Amino acid sequence: MTPLRVGLAGLGTVGGSVVRLLLDNAALFERRAGRRLDLVRVASRTPKPDIDIGSATFDTALASLDADDVDVVVELIGGVSAAKDLVATAIGAGRHVVTANKALLAEYGEEIFESANRRGVSVGFEASVAGGIPIVNALRTGLAGNRIDAIAGIVNGTSNYILTAMQEDGRDFATALAEAQRLGYAEADPTFDVEGIDAAQKLAILAALAFDATIDIGGVHVEGVSGIDIEDIRYARELGFSIKHLGLARLHDDGIEVRVHPALVPESVLISKVSGVMNAVMAHGNAVGPTLYVGPGAGGMPTASAVVADLVELARGTLPVPRPAARRLPSLGIEDVDCAHYLKIPAIDQPGVFAEVADVLSRHEVSIEAVIQRPQAIRSGAEPWVPIIIVTDDVPEAVVRECVSELANLAGVTGEISRIRVADLSAMMPPT
Ligand code: HSE
Repeated sequence: MTPLRVGLAGLGTVGGSVVRLLLDNAALFERRAGRRLDLVRVASRTPKPDIDIGSATFDTALASLDADDVDVVVELIGGVSAAKDLVATAIGAGRHVVTANKALLAEYGEEIFESANRRGVSVGFEASVAGGIPIVNALRTGLAGNRIDAIAGIVNGTSNYILTAMQEDGRDFATALAEAQRLGYAEADPTFDVEGIDAAQKLAILAALAFDATIDIGGVHVEGVSGIDIEDIRYARELGFSIKHLGLARLHDDGIEVRVHPALVPESVLISKVSGVMNAVMAHGNAVGPTLYVGPGAGGMPTASAVVADLVELARGTLPVPRPAARRLPSLGIEDVDCAHYLKIPAIDQPGVFAEVADVLSRHEVSIEAVIQRPQAIRSGAEPWVPIIIVTDDVPEAVVRECVSELANLAGVTGEISRIRVADLSAMMPPT
């Protein structure tokens, strides 16, 4: 068999790891794929002379990959604009593409898949979601006998790393983020991680695949972990929850519920224990029921593992040419979601304040599931205040918003109210 000739763009954390893996495990891949995976060209706008690229030729121009001796272009440069051009050129020339670029696919996936379909070339994107977890393959192949009705999980390694470092080691947010950056987990612009954008892109890709639908990335409700403080984490723990950054997509008759946000997850649910850079994706199939996939969600080698898996599949001839989605699903707004909420209400420590808080909730028919209030004078020189922690029963989004705004206007409430959704995934997830 002739070798599969690989042209690779980008020598960052992931690109460097892919090169190493291709060179180190060459014999293994040849045996698995039945033909060699030959790295023939590498392009990187920043030269990295320290990286051994074997016998491949190097160029700083991405256009150097538009060459007759390249069968597949591996796009690992990140960003959208140059990556889109590179992928479009490759597909236009009849080359296969493997990419880890979730931003590109979340925004232009439909266009890229359509043009690949017209040209009859494959597009591999295992590495775009959940790092080293082979979730794309699981949804496409292992669960092919199912109608998938929900997916949920932790799909941003940086956010999970930060929340775990805050919860387990008491680190502050900025220190934990700096560590995640040093370890090569965070995006070039880490606001993509901590504001939930990266997770939203990944969830949109997973939902499109799971539900065979075109998903509008603009319809995903997005909140990140940047507003979570260590006190929320401690109170949540006391109440029997971990705070996780969750993505959730569920099929309804009239559209798709698709949201990413921090959530209190009961400690009785397995993913509450998934810590550090690990990701976890749950897929619920109508035949199999709940399934769970766990593994490292970011970092050079885990992501390279997914990139090379696509190359091995391509070499075997089993990486599919994308098909156009069966349907376009409208996203339901967050207003349509009912769920329990954690509220942290900073209140003056004096008689009657708690009664006023309870009165607001009672007037909106919000039932209280749990409460914590402890004396805690934490500001010297100012009026002492105490956090009142409340976990509600399920409440429609509009009602909880009204409650928070009325609570904020009470004379006894002294500052901003924290609100975090509670995700009871027990019906969808295997218990611990
Ligand atoms: N910044 C991403 C994360 C890397 O932290 O999950 C993998 O996409």
